Amino acid sequence: MKDNCNREIKHIRFSVTSKCNYNCIYCDHEGFLPKTTELSVDEITQLCRILAQILKVTKIKFTGGEPLLREEIVEIIRNVSELKLYKDISMTTNGFNLVDKAQDLYNAGLNRINVSLGTLKPDIYKIIYGSDSFNHVLKGIMKAKEVGLTPLKLNYVILKGINDQEFKNMVNFCGENDFVLQLIELHKASQAVNQNNGFYERYYYDVSPIIKDLENSAIHIETRGNMQNRKVFTLPNTAKVETITPGHEFCMGCTKLRVGCDGNLFGCLFRSDLGTNIKEALKNNHSLSSYERIVKQVVETREPYY
Ligand code: 5AD
Repeated sequence: MKDNCNREIKHIRFSVTSKCNYNCIYCDHEGFLPKTTELSVDEITQLCRILAQILKVTKIKFTGGEPLLREEIVEIIRNVSELKLYKDISMTTNGFNLVDKAQDLYNAGLNRINVSLGTLKPDIYKIIYGSDSFNHVLKGIMKAKEVGLTPLKLNYVILKGINDQEFKNMVNFCGENDFVLQLIELHKASQAVNQNNGFYERYYYDVSPIIKDLENSAIHIETRGNMQNRKVFTLPNTAKVETITPGHEFCMGCTKLRVGCDGNLFGCLFRSDLGTNIKEALKNNHSLSSYERIVKQVVETREPYY
């Protein structure tokens, strides 16, 4: 299914809970206000099946809040995996519960994970994430790698004056461990960032000079056309760096549909207000064509933000 800008929906970003045990200084809450209502496990499974059937998508990413705080997360992954409709099931996590859950998640059918790790310094970790658990998370990341949740990506939101000096260390760390580094520019789709208190101006770090350096030093450069035109640079030490920089090209390459934990379908991180809630329809077990009408209506609200 294509939107009005000829962008086809190719993957789903699905929040399973708004609960979180972290307090990241820039948190965007996945673009919608935290909700206490959550779809049931059956509703999530049903919705994943419907979306795959309607949109023919084969990629899905589970998020939160913190998805590993959803008690039934392993069951959710197992159910969705057993649909046999998705080829790529991934998750974005803060990593706190990986030590305990990585193996079960892998066994249930999770393919890979992204972990928020924007520093290699425990004291800076505490500043960014509001949690004194750097070493614990690192253990979880290593465990995830060991069980096979790969390619494992690290989300490095670069912040001026906090972790902007760590880029090289992060690259080396990723090269040594075979992780992909996601270099992410701070964006404003977040109350924490966008409340006119100078946060954005204080911490925004322009990554274009880094990208220039990467263009010069990379041995291979790829553009992920289906993924917001993100660039992936392979460096001489074999480390891969993917750059995520909101902007015009980024929006034009966006092929994502979002699902809030309460069943709100929406088409853009910046516009959850244009969403439609599908929970009632799920309860009433509608026909596929009536779900298709809801999905189409949401997809048609998508427009490039920049
Ligand atoms: N700017 C950039 N990235 C953000 N994330 C959350 N809030 C922001 C923001 N304001 C990203 C982090 C985290 C993922 C879930 O969302 O990379 O790992």
